[in-house]
Amino acid sequence: MSESALFSRFAVRDVTLGNRIMISPMQQYMAGTDGMPNAFHAQHYGRQAIGGAGAVMTEALAVSPEGRVSWHDLGLWNDAQMEALKPIADALGAAGAVPATQLIHAGRKGSVGRPWEGYNPLTAADEARGAPPWTTVAASALPANPGWHAPVAMDGATIARTIDAYHEAAGRAARAGFRLLEIHAAHGYLIHSFLSPLSNRREDAWGGDRAGRLRFLLAVSEAVRAAWPSGLPLSVRLSCIDDQPGGWTIEDSIAAARALKLLGVDLIDCSSGGLGERTTTRLVRRQEGYQVPFAERIRSEAGIATIAVGLIRTPAYAEAVIREGKADLVAIGREALFNPHWALHASQVLGTDPGFEAWPSAWGWWLEKRARAARAPAA
Ligand SMILES: Cc1cc2nc3c(=O)[nH]c(=O)nc-3n(C[C@H](O)[C@H](O)[C@H](O)COP(=O)(O)O)c2cc1C
Repeated sequence: MSESALFSRFAVRDVTLGNRIMISPMQQYMAGTDGMPNAFHAQHYGRQAIGGAGAVMTEALAVSPEGRVSWHDLGLWNDAQMEALKPIADALGAAGAVPATQLIHAGRKGSVGRPWEGYNPLTAADEARGAPPWTTVAASALPANPGWHAPVAMDGATIARTIDAYHEAAGRAARAGFRLLEIHAAHGYLIHSFLSPLSNRREDAWGGDRAGRLRFLLAVSEAVRAAWPSGLPLSVRLSCIDDQPGGWTIEDSIAAARALKLLGVDLIDCSSGGLGERTTTRLVRRQEGYQVPFAERIRSEAGIATIAVGLIRTPAYAEAVIREGKADLVAIGREALFNPHWALHASQVLGTDPGFEAWPSAWGWWLEKRARAARAPAA
C-alpha cells in the first residue's frame, strides 16, 4: 500500500475524518418551497455518502425563509426541517463520512430564480406562477448587480434577529446529527456584504473600518459557537479576496481568520469572489487550484487549519496540496457531481486501497477480483 498525505486522517476537536477530502457544499435548488429535503436529496447525498470522502458537506441551509437564494433552497429555520435532515446526516455517518453542513443567509443575492432557469431576480412574471419576489436585506442598500433587487439596509433589530436565527439553526444542525458546521461568509451573501468595503457603506458600528465590517461575522460566529457543541468543529467559508479593485483582500482575510480563531473557529474554507455574480474585472485566472494560495497563506499566517477549494480535479494535485502543507483539507465540488466516487477513485490512483476495502463490501469484493484478473498473466 502506498503512503498518501491525502489519505491520512485529520482530527479536529472530537471529530476525525478518515481522509483529507471533503465534498464541497453545493446548493441543488431542488427543495420544495417549504425548504424541506425530498427524494432527490436522499439520492444525491446517498451517492456522495458512499463516495469515500472523509466529510460530506451538504448544500447551504438557509437560517430564515428570506435568507434563501431561491424558492427551492433547503432550510433549517424550523424543527420539521431538522427532523427531515436527520436521515441525510445518518446516511453520511453510516457510510463513514463525517456529516457536515453549512448555514447561509443569502442577503442581497436572494430572491432569484434557479441557475438553469436564468438565475435572474424574481419578477411579477414569477409571481404569476406562484414564486413572488421578496424583500432582500444587506449591509447597505446596494444591489449585487445592476438591475438586481435593491436590498434594505439592515437595522439593529434585524441584525439581532438574524444573529439569533444563526444561533437557532446551529442548535438544530447539532440535533439533526451533523458533526462539522460551516458558516457561509463568502460569495456575496449576507455576511460577505458586511465584510467588503464595496458593499458595506454603513456609518454605524457595523461598518466603516475593517473592525466594523468584521463585527457581523464575529457576532454570528460567536452565536453559532455558543449553540454548537464544544466537541464539534466549526468552519467559516470566506471569499478570501473580492477579486475586484478596492475590495476585500487576502490581508483582510488573514486578520479575519485570526479573530475567528480566538472565537473558537477551527477551520477556514478558502474560496473567493462572488460579491456581484456578474463582475467583469477578474484579477485571478481560473486554473487548477487557483484559490490554494489563499489557503496556504491563511494557514501559515493565521495559524489555523484551512480547506482549499476550487478546480481541484486530479488525485495527484490534491495529494500535492496536502503533502506540501498548503491546506489541511481539500474540498471537491463539481468533480464530485461528475463522479460521486471521486475519493474512492483517488485512492485507487494513489494506491492506498489495493483491496477495495473503502468501498461498500457488496462492490469492493467484486472489484478486487476484477482488478486481480486484469493483472493476471494471460493463460
Ligand atoms: C451547483 C453548485 C452549488 C454550489 N453551492 C454552494 C453552497 O451551497 N455553498 C458554498 O459555499 N459554495 C457553493 N458552491 C461553490 C462550491 O462549493 C465550490 O467552492 C466551487 O464549485 C469551486 O469548487 P470546484 O471547482 O471543485 O467545483 C456551489 C457550486 C456549485 C457548482
